[in-house]
Amino acid sequence: MKVLVVGSGGREHALASQLLQSDTVEKVFCTPGNGGTAVLNNCENVAIAVDDFESLLKLIEEKGINLAVIGPELPLSLGITDYLQSHQINVFGPNKAGATIEASKSWAKDLMIAGGIPTAKSATFTDKEGAKNYILQEGAPIVVKADGLAAGKGVVVAMSDDEAIDAIEELFAQNFSKVVIEEFLTGQEVSVLALTDGKTIRSLIPAQDHKQIGEGDTGANTGGMGAYAPTPLVDDHLSDRITKEILEPTLKELQKRGIDYRGVLYAGLMITPEGDPKTLEFNCRFGDPETQAVLPMLKTPLAEVLLACAQQRLADLPPLEWHKGSAVCVVIAAGGYPASYEKGKVITGITEAETQGVTVFHAGTKLVGAEIITDGGRVLGVTSREADFKSAIASAYQAVEKIKFDDMYYRRDIGHRIS
Ligand code: AMP
Ligand code: GLY
Repeated sequence: MKVLVVGSGGREHALASQLLQSDTVEKVFCTPGNGGTAVLNNCENVAIAVDDFESLLKLIEEKGINLAVIGPELPLSLGITDYLQSHQINVFGPNKAGATIEASKSWAKDLMIAGGIPTAKSATFTDKEGAKNYILQEGAPIVVKADGLAAGKGVVVAMSDDEAIDAIEELFAQNFSKVVIEEFLTGQEVSVLALTDGKTIRSLIPAQDHKQIGEGDTGANTGGMGAYAPTPLVDDHLSDRITKEILEPTLKELQKRGIDYRGVLYAGLMITPEGDPKTLEFNCRFGDPETQAVLPMLKTPLAEVLLACAQQRLADLPPLEWHKGSAVCVVIAAGGYPASYEKGKVITGITEAETQGVTVFHAGTKLVGAEIITDGGRVLGVTSREADFKSAIASAYQAVEKIKFDDMYYRRDIGHRIS
């Protein structure tokens, strides 16, 4: 079959290369793709923007594409799935109503409360004064969240009342009209990506991301600087609890609302010091860079699973099979990211890195002539899969050292929470 992958990040490169490992997949098209998908065998980039639904449909029809896999949240929240499904296309990715679970924090909170899904105590405000009074009443530390897609910049974990109040001022000044204010939770964060066809839900192996730019989890939040899977923090018992207490009740609540959700339900969880899972957020898509660590561990052909989700046949598939061992992904970013950074630097050493047995997933890169140049904040993700976690870390970093571009930056402590 032929598959379309919509998006241009490391996640989409990982999806394309994993899809191509399925015997049934003859070709993958990426729109718009990146430098990595440009040079991937049997993969072709087509320069169509993720929100240009008509051109995407035309491409699907012209090329005889059997399945569209949507990477980022933006086209999902704009209704790409509704549009393509109305033209009888198989789509992996929830419809617009389903994508609200990521696009609106207050909607997601209401769903969690209705379903009895464990999460932080919170209140939603549409007025600044109400929000500020609540902050003063509850007191810091406290978390302020914009109600809307904010490219990872809508959450402020405030350590003082003043910081929380400043965050309120700032969000309303940025034209957000609703905020969720939430109890501050401590513990370790885990990303559980689950696949669903709207009726059945199956969890992928649990991953952990490193959201902050600096070593030791310091500095500004980013899209994610590195990930590993499976995380030993989630044993079988906890994984069962996550399915029963969070994933299944969430699917049930979506069904109650008449939402036919076919895609990834990504639960961002805090595992509290008592060992209980609490939901920080839901996303309606694969995580980035979690996908670059999770998918290389999957033995079951990905294309068959995603097509089964799109066609509501997930219950008919045998359980997912996984490789033994661990995968670690180290993200290489442009110096200055997540604030301002430069693009257009020539990258060398990718082939040398790959001869060490790792996979180099491209994120912000593009192919210019025969050269791969930087074209974004997060540039590459180097994934190593090994028999054990320590070896995976060591080989990922050995490979990272082969890669060079002007002003490149990466965290040297990915995996530091596991020792
Ligand atoms: P979110 O987009 O809601 O996952 O929030 C982004 C990040 O903010 C999370 O990955 C956490 O690191 C942090 N965060 C969100 N909610 C809370 C909370 N209730 N307590 C502590 N940290 C939080
Ligand atoms: N790595 C975090 C995310 O994909 O939202």
